[in-house]
Amino acid sequence: MGIYDSTFLAYVCITVVLFQLSRFLLAGLYNHFLTIRLGIKFVDFKYLGKWAVVTGCTDGIGKAFAEILAEEGMSIYLISRSQDKLDELAKSISAKYKVDTKTLAIDFSQGDEIYSLIEKHLAELDIGVLVNNVGLSYSYPEYFLNVENRDALFKDIIRINCVAVVDMCKIVLPGMVERKRGAIINVSSLAAKIPHPLLSVYSASKAFVDKFSVDLGLEYESSGITIQSLLPGYVATKMSKIRGESLMAPSPKTFVMNAIRTLGVHGRTTGYFPHTVMDYLMNTITPQLVNMFVLNALLSLRKRAIKQKNKAQAQAQPGY
Ligand SMILES: NC(=O)c1ccc[n+]([C@@H]2O[C@H](COP(=O)([O-])OP(=O)(O)OC[C@H]3O[C@@H](n4cnc5c(N)ncnc54)[C@H](OP(=O)(O)O)[C@@H]3O)[C@@H](O)[C@H]2O)c1
Repeated sequence: MGIYDSTFLAYVCITVVLFQLSRFLLAGLYNHFLTIRLGIKFVDFKYLGKWAVVTGCTDGIGKAFAEILAEEGMSIYLISRSQDKLDELAKSISAKYKVDTKTLAIDFSQGDEIYSLIEKHLAELDIGVLVNNVGLSYSYPEYFLNVENRDALFKDIIRINCVAVVDMCKIVLPGMVERKRGAIINVSSLAAKIPHPLLSVYSASKAFVDKFSVDLGLEYESSGITIQSLLPGYVATKMSKIRGESLMAPSPKTFVMNAIRTLGVHGRTTGYFPHTVMDYLMNTITPQLVNMFVLNALLSLRKRAIKQKNKAQAQAQPGY
């Protein structure tokens, strides 16, 4: 190859890289910053239907979805485990946003019978939005064979993270298809896309949610239904055990305010620009380096959690 050919090739490569990078940055800037600052919405939530159903809604990301969808004028159907927390949230949403609310106490770790109950309660409602948010993870990162109560925990993770998503779609989608309008947000996790050792059952369950959502989205796009796979990085909630919010671990409200603007724009997204940058970097850097980095980070979380657990156990001993 002559010197002119290789210079030409180098220019082509640099142009392609610069083009991809500016596309990524401009799309990020537009979707994650300008739309929020300018108040641009891609979805008219009230047009989609009267009700938004949110699972796992009394805390964290689910609670933020319930409040932000109520702010958009939707009536909220709250489904979570504890009736007292549901009542309190329903009362505060109705008072603050002047919308109707309904509640249903359901434990998604239970068997198939819960879905006939949910179906009975949701029948006849004009449901515009379903947020499949409820999720369960390990209490701390741990080797597969060392996870405490692993038989029960792994089954619960699969029931809560996977079965609930499929069964809730089975209940809500027929009405949406009939009305030719609706949106389903399935909360997966960035753990589905990047290596996540020591949380392998959780991350695999989230990969299921991601793949299911993308393919279901393609099936029902032409019926007027938007289905989104939402893959957040860390958000400061009870599940992540992150107390203070930061740029990389936003509060649930900041996260959902960003994520909701991506509905109708991205079928598969982290929903939050700093998480999109992290995803981009993790998928650009050499896999060996990413694996090493993530494993070390999760091993140090594991070490800290075990130390805290041992300390708490020692303090609980009589005579401490
Ligand atoms: N936080 C993160 O960093 C992060 C990152 C990526 C993805 N996600 C995903 O985001 C979703 C929400 O997580 P989060 O961090 O917001 O969780 P969270 O703060 O722990 O809240 C979980 C909610 O689900 C309810 N819930 C828990 N178990 C339930 C069950 N068996 N049946 C019914 N409701 C149940 C809880 O209420 P009750 O206890 O009152 O029932 C609570 O309202 C999950 O799918 C999670 O995997 C979270």
